[in-house]
Amino acid sequence: MRILIRGARILDPGRKDTVGDVAISDGVITAMGPGAAEAMPDAERVVDAAECLLVPGLVDMHVHLREPGQEHKETIASGCRAAARGGFTAVCPMPNTDPPNDSPEVTDYILQRATAANGVRVLPVAAITKGLAGEVLTDFGALKAHGAVAVSDDGQPVSSGAVMQQALETARDHGLLVISHSEDLSFSAGGHMNAGTASRRMGVAGVPNAAEFVMVARDISLCEITGARLHIAHVSTQQSVLAIRKAKERGVPVSAETAPHYLFLTDQDVEKLGTDAKMSPPLRSEADRMALREALTDGTIDAIATDHAPHSPDEKALPFEQAPNGVIGLETSLGLGLQLVREGVLDMAQLVEKMSCSPAGLVGIDRRLAVGAPADLTVIDPAASWTVRPELFASRSRNTPFAGWRLPGRAVFTMAAGRVVFDAAMENDDPEHKTEKQYG
Ligand code: DOR
Ligand code: ZN
Repeated sequence: MRILIRGARILDPGRKDTVGDVAISDGVITAMGPGAAEAMPDAERVVDAAECLLVPGLVDMHVHLREPGQEHKETIASGCRAAARGGFTAVCPMPNTDPPNDSPEVTDYILQRATAANGVRVLPVAAITKGLAGEVLTDFGALKAHGAVAVSDDGQPVSSGAVMQQALETARDHGLLVISHSEDLSFSAGGHMNAGTASRRMGVAGVPNAAEFVMVARDISLCEITGARLHIAHVSTQQSVLAIRKAKERGVPVSAETAPHYLFLTDQDVEKLGTDAKMSPPLRSEADRMALREALTDGTIDAIATDHAPHSPDEKALPFEQAPNGVIGLETSLGLGLQLVREGVLDMAQLVEKMSCSPAGLVGIDRRLAVGAPADLTVIDPAASWTVRPELFASRSRNTPFAGWRLPGRAVFTMAAGRVVFDAAMENDDPEHKTEKQYG
């Protein structure tokens, strides 16, 4: 298959922007730049990308795909379709499946399902401890050999400092990234939302910021003494930001991500949004939200990751305290990222860093836009303003707090590892997503 993408603004951080074409033959970039179209007069698919951006494929390093075990919420195939529509070309599914991804057999199964789905790249994160129980380490060497790109007990903390230290030492020896779900259960147990004025008003037990930042501080200390690579998942508090910023100044090999919901919502939104705004860690205060935005701008936070956490409508219809934690994000993250650009929090190159280059580097994959490399790219129409309609999502779940939001820009053409995984021009069923030039 010969594909020609014409007239895009090619934006690859670290290189000079150009307006040009990208020619792709059998999945490999064969020509790129101004006039590259001339190298492919016989393309079978021509993508008119005038006024669009072409960026290295977006990477979501933190998703939950629910397969094996809870396929009614999401499968690897449905999650991959949601990812591709959201502009992602690679996703890292967390190990809290059923059974959990704590053995090479489960890692193999996930990768088999990913191969069958033939969509975006699936780079599994394996468990730190057997059964995610926080006690006995999994076999990091075997898990890495079978394709795990990182280890995490996400969903649960590794409460024992001694076990976490052992995990960091072992991960360091295997060159694996450790992703910390930083939560001190002695602060958070029994809590269902941020501790503050909103939780008091609603009469819901709260989770204080300390539940997160005390654990972030512990893990930074352990990272510092072990020299392992540590990544803090879903940072939600200003105190965590301060600790990470200081650690980076000292040269500690720590990185961090936050999720779009922490950048746009606070605990004051929970009363109105209900269980679609319930997640762990919870939405925090306005001061936390502002600190997270600043941390993105100054580089303290390296990556935007969705923590895409699908749950079924019947579970999310339960009373607030009984409903599960988590919100989906694969199909809204890019639009919200572009909103950050619109609001001046990030420039476009920084957004591409946070959503592509930096997470790719952390999980060890190459994103180069270069002749001879497999096409792994996202074409974005920054002028396509659209309304979030969960009923149109490719995800099997609907639990988003952003329903009804008007977002600026969306992915129109996505290629992962040389394959076309999303082509908006082929989606005739979806009039709302047709380009609407409202925002330049
Ligand atoms: O909100 C969350 N949902 N936080 C987690 O840590 C786990 C996740 C899930 O698996 O649903
Ligand atoms: Zn998660």
